[in-house]
Amino acid sequence: MKRVLITGGCGFIGSNFIRHTLKHYPDYRLINLDKLTYAGNPGNLTDVENNPRYRFVKGDICDNDLVGKIFAEEQIDTVIHFAAESHVDRSITGPAEFVQTNIMGTFNLLEAAREAWLKDATGKASGTGCRFLHVSTDEVYGSLGQTGAFQETTSYDPRSPYSASKASSDHLVSAYFHTYGLPVLITNCSNNYGPYQFPEKLIPLIVNNALGGRSLPVYGDGKNVRDWLYVIDHCEAILTVLQNGIVGETYNIGGNSEKQNIEIVHTICDILDEKVGLLPDGKNRRTLITYVKDRAGHDRRYAIDATKIRTQLGWKPKVNFADGMRRTVEWYLNNKVWIASVTDGSYREYYEKMYGKK
Ligand SMILES: NC(=O)c1ccc[n+]([C@@H]2O[C@H](COP(=O)([O-])OP(=O)(O)OC[C@H]3O[C@@H](n4cnc5c(N)ncnc54)[C@H](O)[C@@H]3O)[C@@H](O)[C@H]2O)c1
Repeated sequence: MKRVLITGGCGFIGSNFIRHTLKHYPDYRLINLDKLTYAGNPGNLTDVENNPRYRFVKGDICDNDLVGKIFAEEQIDTVIHFAAESHVDRSITGPAEFVQTNIMGTFNLLEAAREAWLKDATGKASGTGCRFLHVSTDEVYGSLGQTGAFQETTSYDPRSPYSASKASSDHLVSAYFHTYGLPVLITNCSNNYGPYQFPEKLIPLIVNNALGGRSLPVYGDGKNVRDWLYVIDHCEAILTVLQNGIVGETYNIGGNSEKQNIEIVHTICDILDEKVGLLPDGKNRRTLITYVKDRAGHDRRYAIDATKIRTQLGWKPKVNFADGMRRTVEWYLNNKVWIASVTDGSYREYYEKMYGKK
């Protein structure tokens, strides 16, 4: 039985990962350490909370005593580190939390793993078979022009406090491999979409507003390009890297599915028009699109070259963009109670600060 510490498991990707892994990997025990920030919702995992191979611990990855205690109590041999402040816009208005959680939190976890895995009672190195997998983003590589794609060898060029804090954590993880021999793996993935994503991010935000007939805010000219990957494909990629990746290496993960933001918004509007009918005034939902002032330092284009994970580890995405978007929109349609439960007072306050009154 692998004894896995999952950090940030109540967030979007973490909760999908936990559900997927408990279902398909019976030899994994998962201990989910999550601080339950605004982005963490234990309600994302109510269907698995009684699974005997799952344990939830509410707490902060920056709390060394707690993290050390979990390593000892649960004999952790694997870490999959999702916990982060993850929203670029919030990093622009309040970068301190990003430095604290993304950099100091990662440092604290690395120290706990080093302590637990690289020293036994006599001070000798142990830790054979242990793995520390750090989940990171393509945003660390900066912004691309019209052509090209990020490779694992692309120089880092982070441009927002979010991506800078993730870049910094990647460097720390890599340093613990080179300096101490900690068995680390790093994954840098493109934009994920799917169920349980907090509606401050583009896709759930647009679905939520389009359902309610509210305006659909699109930054700048709407032509910023991102590569999109269905969240379960990301989870499978992480499991593939964990099982077969070479320690100390980085793997880029992407969907080979570049889209302009405006294309995403059009796709959502069209699916909703088809599924729930036109707006009460007979107009289609594309008429709700409103262009708003661009995000400061908004990266123009990201694209991932995922050749390494495909050719060396045999992973490739299974869900194409059209199917994935349909599934995602259907999930939000079938889970309106979930949306209502996460778009509470504090979300509304945040939304009005960013985009004005709904
Ligand atoms: N969402 C994407 O498109 C994407 C793409 C590539 C990489 N990533 C990376 O994947 C990871 C997960 O992203 P996500 O979209 O699921 O994020 P999220 O914001 O939905 O979830 C983050 C989770 O971390 C928890 N958390 C935050 N600070 C914590 C702390 N100090 N201690 C313990 N828990 C804490 C939150 O409560 C939340 O449950 C992040 O590291 C992110 O950088 C995300």
